[in-house]
Amino acid sequence: MFGKTTFVLSFLSALTAVSAQLSGRVGPLTTVTAKKAVKQCSVLDYGGKADNSTDLSGPLTSAFNACKSGGVVVIPSGNYALANWVTLSGGNAWALQWDGIVYRTGTAGGNMIFIEHTTDFELFSSTSKGAFQGLGYVFHAEGNTSGPRIMRLYEATSFSVHDIALVDSPLFHFTCDTCANGELYNIAVRGGNMGGLDGFDMGGKNLWVHDVEVTNKDECVTVKSPASNYLFENIYCNWSGGSAIGSLGADTAVSNILYRNVYSQNCNQAMMIKSNGGSGTVKNVVFENFISHKNAYSLDIDQYWSDSSATGSGVQLSNITFSNWKGTEANGASRGPVKVICADATPCTDITISDFAMWTESGSKQWYSCESAFGSGFCLRNSNPSSYAVSTTTVSAAPSGYSAPTMPNDLATAFGTNAYIPIPTIPTSFFPGATPISKLSGIATVQGVAQIVASSNAEAVAAATVSSNQAGSTSEAMAVSSASLVTSSSSAPSVSASTLVTSTVADSASSTSAAASASTSEASRKGGRGRKGKGSCKA
Ligand SMILES: *[C@@H]1O[C@H](CO)[C@@H](O)[C@H](O)[C@H]1NC(C)=O
Ligand SMILES: *[C@@H]1O[C@H](CO)[C@@H](O)[C@H](O)[C@H]1NC(C)=O
Ligand SMILES: *[C@@H]1O[C@H](CO)[C@@H](O)[C@H](O)[C@H]1NC(C)=O
Ligand SMILES: *[C@@H]1O[C@H](CO)[C@@H](O)[C@H](O)[C@H]1NC(C)=O
Repeated sequence: MFGKTTFVLSFLSALTAVSAQLSGRVGPLTTVTAKKAVKQCSVLDYGGKADNSTDLSGPLTSAFNACKSGGVVVIPSGNYALANWVTLSGGNAWALQWDGIVYRTGTAGGNMIFIEHTTDFELFSSTSKGAFQGLGYVFHAEGNTSGPRIMRLYEATSFSVHDIALVDSPLFHFTCDTCANGELYNIAVRGGNMGGLDGFDMGGKNLWVHDVEVTNKDECVTVKSPASNYLFENIYCNWSGGSAIGSLGADTAVSNILYRNVYSQNCNQAMMIKSNGGSGTVKNVVFENFISHKNAYSLDIDQYWSDSSATGSGVQLSNITFSNWKGTEANGASRGPVKVICADATPCTDITISDFAMWTESGSKQWYSCESAFGSGFCLRNSNPSSYAVSTTTVSAAPSGYSAPTMPNDLATAFGTNAYIPIPTIPTSFFPGATPISKLSGIATVQGVAQIVASSNAEAVAAATVSSNQAGSTSEAMAVSSASLVTSSSSAPSVSASTLVTSTVADSASSTSAAASASTSEASRKGGRGRKGKGSCKA
């Protein structure tokens, strides 16, 4: 009885938290089962061949046209070649079951898979083994920094993408713009070790990204303006550029963003808000439960980032909270863990940094640096906002409670840019102590999980469904899974506080390389505005 009550309470509070961040239901409106009952269109019936050489573009387009008004397009398991790029435009109540491995063979620019003006859509692998292999190293080995992107969604509404691996794109891996009511989960991105190979660039509203892993050297999971009501959680930046909001330019409109349970190792930063000039606002943002190891920068707000300045005197940042950040940075004397550099003409207000303890991997000093930044914590000032020059404090003692757990298989040596990058399996954890909110589809379906919980605790599901003002299996699955996450997210930080994890000396070479790659893009003004110049993370 006690157990059940506890469950109901955590369940409802989790739902409130999720609902408060998102503005409504996310994901497709119709189940794959229902779509399959309408129609199935296998690419093999439209001229496709799993021979790793026949161009899949025509068969995929034909299968889409036959199933886009309701049905499931299927790429069965097997190896396929993509020589020409595909635009899937329109579509309602459809899905793309991507169980095969698709290899890029064409060389044109653009988007290899472009999905636009679509609604009630689900792209997934039923085995969690579907993948796109972009073979980007063929471009990068020749020093080419342009090439096609793997996947772009434009004006997609009520959709999900899950259980797929996007590998070695010549350019960006996944871009969403003007997306709404979407859910991304159980996805692994693994790209080369250079800038321009962004993981997830997310623009739109009411988006839930969870349980994703990115390996590259540019954006991990990044907010692109305009953006509102995002919940990003269980994010694993397993050697990456790191997550960010930006780059921000004129008329920025970013609000109600929550990142939680973000694990970053060997990145350029754990989180960055980047702009130079520009206008508009970023407000009501929370970054909580961050674990960092060996990143160059950590908390990094830089409104003098990049060479080129956008129109405007600065984006107004306000009501931004960082809480429960633990771990280490690569070298705190050259890049300290707290850097809040705001535009002098547009000081930041209401910034809060609390429960934040980080220490350096190498050396015995670290700095905290602020400019024109107001709020509470570290070097932030609390008087009336007016500009002030860079102010840097250097400390030479480790704060208490900074140690934090590591993931079991952090990438220790970067994938280069000139050799084949193997397709990863989708991890079964994306944050220490947390399991994916929705089980991998290769293991069990989301609906299955919802049904198991519903039948063992029908009361809680019913109560939550009513209070959430949402209906259907997707919202139940969402609520159920959020409840299980709260358990893991609230336990993970306390584990981190009590467990002493010693970072291994063997990895110090890699932390040096993370620091080195950041230093190439940074002006040398120690503890000051720092990273000017183009940077290894492109806009
Ligand atoms: C498929 O072809 C690509 C080259 O287009 C090659 O790199 C890959 O190894 C092939 N896959 C298999 C399973 O043969
Ligand atoms: C790389 O760029 C060069 C010069 O533009 C071009 O000739 C070559 O085909 C490119 N390589 C690839 C793999 O696209
Ligand atoms: C600050 O942001 C938080 C989180 O989004 C929000 O709950 C709160 O209402 C905001 N405060 C103000 C004064 O807008
Ligand atoms: C981190 O990345 C490396 C290389 O991609 C991979 O081998 C490892 O499994 C990843 N860790 C996890 C937990 O997925």
